Amino acid sequence: MPKARLLSGIQPTGGLHVGNYLGAIQNWVRLQDEYECLYSVVDLHAMTIPYEPGEMPARVFEAAAMLLASGIDPARATVFVQSDVPEHSELAWILSCVTPLGELERLTQFKEKSEEHKKSVNLGLLSYPVLQAADILLYKAEVVPVGEDQVQHLEISREIARRFNARFGPVFPEPRALLTRTPRVMGVDGQAKMSKSKGNGIMLRDEPAKVRALLKTAATDPARVRRQDPGNPDVCNVYTMHKGLSTEATLARVDRECRTAAIGCIECKTLLADAMVPVLDAIRTKADGYDREPARLREVLSRGAAHCREIAGRTMDEVRRATGLRRS
Ligand code: AMP
Ligand code: TRP
Repeated sequence: MPKARLLSGIQPTGGLHVGNYLGAIQNWVRLQDEYECLYSVVDLHAMTIPYEPGEMPARVFEAAAMLLASGIDPARATVFVQSDVPEHSELAWILSCVTPLGELERLTQFKEKSEEHKKSVNLGLLSYPVLQAADILLYKAEVVPVGEDQVQHLEISREIARRFNARFGPVFPEPRALLTRTPRVMGVDGQAKMSKSKGNGIMLRDEPAKVRALLKTAATDPARVRRQDPGNPDVCNVYTMHKGLSTEATLARVDRECRTAAIGCIECKTLLADAMVPVLDAIRTKADGYDREPARLREVLSRGAAHCREIAGRTMDEVRRATGLRRS
């Protein structure tokens, strides 16, 4: 039996945080043997908000290096840069012609980002999910591991596939989202989901002292005011992070002792730091290796692009035939 194909993408935001790791990348690493995996650094998506062109190459390099440093193995998975495969943009145009406008306008991410970048609300920000659908459908990927914030976008991808198939014949499978154990990591302040732009994150490149200092300030169950109050791990962001990083034994202990106030938040955060620091250390060390030898990473990306162009070319032949763009 051939493995089902899986695709996911990450924006080159300049630095990845623990939310990206626990919400997405950790899962990507685990899925490498079960599926035929394609992982993309989506630079075209990153153009939808204002950016400095001169900085983009380094951002793309950093995102790709972090994927490999986190455990994506180029011998088992394909890693590539979205703009290296021009068919993504081409398919996005075709799919935009079967995408209902009203649905795009309703999406949370569009509303949030157009609020955040009021002065530069461009068409790309609105059609962002159409490009995302193209990323997935171009490879006929069936499974898409993402964090909770992307579930709406996956729904739109499914809808776009359905509409295309209904209009032009059955070309695309409907992709489904696959969530991790920690699909939504909040920022250290506990106010909003962890994100680079909000500055509320623990970055994968942060040094141990910084990680420990940030965790000390991390918000916990707001109902647990005094040390002797019992807490509820189900609503605690520190526990959420434990779930992705700590052993089953530590998890069981924290869950039990938080509820009975046998453990305090400070000790619980120390346990989390003890689990997080070695993981980040390993990632940082490996990423530094790619910084020293960039050619190793470029080679991986160029092989990835070649592989993806081949698949993309075949899908586009089918799409052109189905849509009447070329006589068969
Ligand atoms: P982005 O950095 O927006 O390209 O996101 C890359 C991946 O990380 C996506 O699968 C997101 O769902 C996931 N992700 C981003 N932020 C978080 C967060 N705070 N919690 C969980 N997952 C996240
Ligand atoms: N929009 C996704 C995010 O911000 C990134 C992304 C682009 C993606 N294309 C994708 C994720 C295809 C999964 C599949 O996280």
